[in-house]
Amino acid sequence: MNSSNFFEGLLYIKDIEFSHNYFVQHCIKSEYNSISLIKNKKEKSIIDIGAGYGRLIPFLSPQFKVIQAVELEQNMFQYLDIRCKQFTNCKALLGDVFKMENWLKETKRIFLLAQNTIGTLSEDDRSFRELIGNEAMPDDELFVTFFKAEYLEDVGLDIYKTLSNWVGKPDLQRSVFEKGIFKSETNYSSKWYTENEIDSFVERLQPKQILTDSSESFFRIVHLKL
Ligand SMILES: C[S@@+](CC[C@H](N)C(=O)[O-])C[C@H]1O[C@@H](n2cnc3c(N)ncnc32)[C@H](O)[C@@H]1O
Repeated sequence: MNSSNFFEGLLYIKDIEFSHNYFVQHCIKSEYNSISLIKNKKEKSIIDIGAGYGRLIPFLSPQFKVIQAVELEQNMFQYLDIRCKQFTNCKALLGDVFKMENWLKETKRIFLLAQNTIGTLSEDDRSFRELIGNEAMPDDELFVTFFKAEYLEDVGLDIYKTLSNWVGKPDLQRSVFEKGIFKSETNYSSKWYTENEIDSFVERLQPKQILTDSSESFFRIVHLKL
């Protein structure tokens, strides 16, 4: 890694974590709050899927038993790995979650996809449901923050404009707001979900219990016992 790439990455972290965007901060706080309310956290372990640069690692590590953080992109992984190495119970893995062979073997795992990571995965959410269906063991849970399609055109564009150095300028020709599809001129893409799509995602997983389903402005947090 050369030093200019490294410092560029730190600027990206600043733009996300210390974002001045009200909506981003609101969502970050609500996620923290919902995660803090999870019961018996010391008995549970987290698989942070699409962990990015490890934004959540310092928050998760003291509360949960073990954290496994999986990230596809090398440029994100370099920071994720540095963060994980600061905590004895965290391990970073570079790779594609859809091809993962070394899942954390702890009992009581929570598959965590924060900040609409589900809508940015390299495969669609149907493939993700199949993956979880195959991998989940009794007592596993799933925690997902979805961004809502009907807010993409105002809230979403606002957020992406503040991140245009990183995701590229919005491509208004190829984005389809009513379907929650965002595309940028540099081919970054993200799916935001309609309420029906979120309901159907949850139903198709046939969870044993819905532990949290909280809808706040432009996002919805769903926490399920699988
Ligand atoms: C929205 S960003 C990261 C958000 C991060 N979870 C957070 O809350 O700060 C989604 C991340 O998922 C990663 N990703 C996409 N597809 C993936 C895959 N198949 N396996 C692992 N990571 C993936 C992307 O590289 C990206 O860093």
